[in-house]
Amino acid sequence: MPRKIIIDTDPGQDDAVAILLAFASPEFDVLGLTAVAGNVPLALTEKNTRKICELAGRSDARVFAGAVRPLIRPLVTAEYVHGKTGLDGPDLPEPTMPLQKQHAVDFLVETLMAQEAGTITLCTLGPLTNIALALIREPRIAPRIQRIVAMGGGFFEGGNTTPAAEFNIYVDPQAARVVFHSGIPITLIPLDCTHKALTSRARVEKFRRMTNRTGPIVAQLLDFFERFDERKYGTDGGPLHDPCVLAWLLKPELFSGRDCHVAIECESELTMGMTVVDWWGVTGKPPTAHVIKDVDSQGFFDLLSDRIARLP
Ligand code: RIB
Ligand code: CA
Repeated sequence: MPRKIIIDTDPGQDDAVAILLAFASPEFDVLGLTAVAGNVPLALTEKNTRKICELAGRSDARVFAGAVRPLIRPLVTAEYVHGKTGLDGPDLPEPTMPLQKQHAVDFLVETLMAQEAGTITLCTLGPLTNIALALIREPRIAPRIQRIVAMGGGFFEGGNTTPAAEFNIYVDPQAARVVFHSGIPITLIPLDCTHKALTSRARVEKFRRMTNRTGPIVAQLLDFFERFDERKYGTDGGPLHDPCVLAWLLKPELFSGRDCHVAIECESELTMGMTVVDWWGVTGKPPTAHVIKDVDSQGFFDLLSDRIARLP
């Protein structure tokens, strides 16, 4: 029985690869994709989400637009990483599939209330604004969510947007606090994990050599996406963050971590958006997330390339 998932996303080249991985994997039934403002403004993240669905041959997928800005703070975007369009690299055609009229938050609430409790997994690839809004709009959805698997945060690795904070949490720390206080089972995939999943030249060339349409386009997405982090970290390749969310669901044995209490800094400007992960259990507070620290990066890329090769 495929796992029912909803993907909340702010494409973003790494979001794009994560969405392609989801569509390439029969283990998933993608009920819908909810776009959120993050890497680029909402008007672009929702359009980019539709472009990626069509690239995967899934113009039947349902894409919903959600929050245009964070709960409290002004929107911070990341064109310096993802380019002006948010999907710089390949020249993807304008989407022809429709954007759903229903607001993403209403789709989340309606679907979670209608479907059997405990059967839907939320895969969050961007700021958590839509999820927080859905929880505030209808608190009864919380016990009905099977699990949230979220890319975000960092602990020993620090941050990538400030020294303390990772982008998805930094953009909307208040939303992250709502989600981490919800009691919903959470798997958090932070920079400590994703910084070990590097898109080395050899790995990108494997996508470029694929004979389908999608493989070479993934290579073009990664060519553009990785340049910023390669320069910043001086590494061969950049971290491929968001596909780790879907890969954890597909092959959790590739990853390792532990249950920890996670708190979100929402007061200090110095550490705003920091995920304070109690890895050593010093606070005595009950765990609020399963925090992933390590990944078998070759196993991850073997899985990813095997699946991308199956797409049109
Ligand atoms: O910090 C990395 C995260 O921020 C990824 O989800 C990337 O797409 C951006 O949203
Ligand atoms: Ca993202």
